[in-house]
Amino acid sequence: MAFDMVGVVGLGTMGAGIAEVFARAGLRVIGVEADAEALARGRGHLERSTGRAVDKGKLTGGERDEILGRIMLTTSREDLREVDLVVEAIPEILEYKISLFRDLDRICKPETVLATNTSSLPVTAVAAATGRPGQVVGMHFFNPAPVMKLVEVVGTVVTAEGMVQEISGLARRLGKTPVAVGDRAGFVVNRLLLPYLNHAAWLLEQGVARRDDIDAAMTLGVGLPMGPFTLLDLIGLDTAYEVMGTLFDETRDRRHAPAPPLRELVTAGLLGRKSGRGFHDGPATPAEPEKSKITTVRVLGEGGADLADRLAAAGFQLSDDADVVLQLGDRPVIEHAVRLERPETMVGVHLVGSRVAELAATVLTSPEAANAARDLTKAIGLTPVECRDRAGFVVDALLYPYLNDAVRMYAAGYASADDIDAAMRLGCGYPAGPFEMLETIGPARVRDGLRALYAEYREPAYAPAPLLDQLVTAGLRAFPRP
Ligand code: CAA
Repeated sequence: MAFDMVGVVGLGTMGAGIAEVFARAGLRVIGVEADAEALARGRGHLERSTGRAVDKGKLTGGERDEILGRIMLTTSREDLREVDLVVEAIPEILEYKISLFRDLDRICKPETVLATNTSSLPVTAVAAATGRPGQVVGMHFFNPAPVMKLVEVVGTVVTAEGMVQEISGLARRLGKTPVAVGDRAGFVVNRLLLPYLNHAAWLLEQGVARRDDIDAAMTLGVGLPMGPFTLLDLIGLDTAYEVMGTLFDETRDRRHAPAPPLRELVTAGLLGRKSGRGFHDGPATPAEPEKSKITTVRVLGEGGADLADRLAAAGFQLSDDADVVLQLGDRPVIEHAVRLERPETMVGVHLVGSRVAELAATVLTSPEAANAARDLTKAIGLTPVECRDRAGFVVDALLYPYLNDAVRMYAAGYASADDIDAAMRLGCGYPAGPFEMLETIGPARVRDGLRALYAEYREPAYAPAPLLDQLVTAGLRAFPRP
């Protein structure tokens, strides 16, 4: 099928981005909004986004005018009669979508393909509401749509043969990489991403670490393009809340219950970037305490010698009777602390990559020792991430269950390891997909980390996936890829 003219219904952040993607690829676009005010907002999104590209020298003024000239804006759905494809990007409320698809089914010519950009609602339910279920698919873009290279193409049990391939071909024409997936809540990316983001909100709720420290741990430590709270604000907390709700309804996994801070912010109308405030630009993180006056340090545990050398080179005095004791390696840190004469001096340290030091204070750690640990790590060029003495600290607690979820998804036959990796790299800008990360970290280390999380929280989903366990037992370092 030749897709020359497409309709986009709903011109919020996603819809406007999708319209821009089509227009940039040379297709004519009819953008539809409910009323003149919403239409003006949609026009604003399009003008700002293409304007930024001109400012950055990525587009000339002439190219921008051509792109915008290909987009016709209207408040009448009836204008979609002749389009070859409609992509719906209205709010995530199933009744609204079903009612829209019924309308589109009536209005559009019989050959028109109807696509939904839903993040997690069942495409099958939308398809079944039309008289052309074979021509209804999911076409799921990622925010910001003009930038992120992935499109999840969702086929259902009633999708016509060849349709997913046609839409995948169109996605390639748009400069995107398609990944074909089945109709399950969250598809690939949201099923893996949102539980991780929700978990970050739980860590905040439980006081395990502060917002900015969690964000820094995941960007500087793991190399993700955004920390979980910055990303939640980008996605929109209302969308994140809806996706979590849908996931929970399907899985009944209590990890998928939306974390309380999400509900609180959504109820308050603080939806993230689109409303100007969400997790960020909220109440300021408390000011940092005074600089520590402690100058003596002792380093214990695996890899301690190297850290001690760096601290000595930075001018700190190494002493067996130091005022702060840094414990690397095994946790719980408190088990090491209680063996000391002055347990209040101990802080657990976990180095993440070459830039981040997670610092775990125990219930006995004194504020002076905690401050000193922070200053010491800064003095040797590391970013401190302060957290409590909990399994996995921040990074492993967030990363390992995500990796485990990816293994379960693969083991269930929902997607291949290559597709899952590509989806996370291209949909979220991750430096590596979960299987690539697992192979870099080492499956045994991840399995052991999951066991520690499971032992502490007794959360069934933290138990290592049987396939991961088997991989480690078999002595393999990588997942079989056909
Ligand atoms: N619209 C259009 N273009 C944008 C943009 C926007 N909103 N935001 C950034 N860009 C462009 C910039 O113009 C720039 O383009 P050039 O390279 O051509 O100059 C490019 O993106 C990089 O932008 P910046 O240099 O300003 O910023 P950055 O390097 O920090 O990158 C980012 C920004 C691309 C958003 C990056 O931080 C990233 O990849 N973040 C992760 C985003 C993510 O995970 N998205 C998926 C969310 S899940 C989802 O959307 C699915 C769902 O259903 C909930």
